[in-house]
Amino acid sequence: MSRTLVAYFSASGTTERLAKRLAAAIGADLYEIEPEIPYTAKDLDWMDKKSRSSVEMRDKSFRPAVAGDVWDMGEYDTIFVAFPIWWYVAPTIVNTFLEQHDLRGKKIITLATSGGSGMGNTNKELAPSCPGAELKEGKVFSADTGEDVLRRWAEGMVLA
Ligand SMILES: Cc1cc2nc3c(=O)[nH]c(=O)nc-3n(C[C@H](O)[C@H](O)[C@H](O)COP(=O)(O)O)c2cc1C
Repeated sequence: MSRTLVAYFSASGTTERLAKRLAAAIGADLYEIEPEIPYTAKDLDWMDKKSRSSVEMRDKSFRPAVAGDVWDMGEYDTIFVAFPIWWYVAPTIVNTFLEQHDLRGKKIITLATSGGSGMGNTNKELAPSCPGAELKEGKVFSADTGEDVLRRWAEGMVLA
């Protein structure tokens, strides 16, 4: 699979393991959606209504800043976007990432790790951030999913 990118956000390393294995399985390039201000363990406390993640996720129009230069995504036809499920959807930094790029005509395939939730309304929340792209709903994987399973799934998604 050429001209394919795996972009991922991972606050505590679980999604990163999955994303790296997926990229290796399909020979894709890898891009980390890195927050300008990293999330601390305290920021991620979903039991605390005042924690950074709780406050951010209550306002779906908030866009946490992404660190580093904006990549030229022009050469990629297909972009897998991996993230943890936060409050049943993608963390809004994934919206920030999508909005930084012109993704018209590209295939965007989402996948996630979670504590048990499925994809829920994930793509519904992401769709307005990538107008003109073909946004496809992937699925939640366990972080230790093997390369063969990921390759078969990814090839199926790209051809579908
Ligand atoms: C703020 C926050 C909200 C979360 N909300 C959910 C949720 O709604 N459903 C769920 O199954 N897991 C939820 N989780 C658990 C994460 O999705 C899960 O631990 C994920 O694998 C973490 O990935 P990471 O290590 O790449 O950040 C949440 C975690 C955090 C920090």
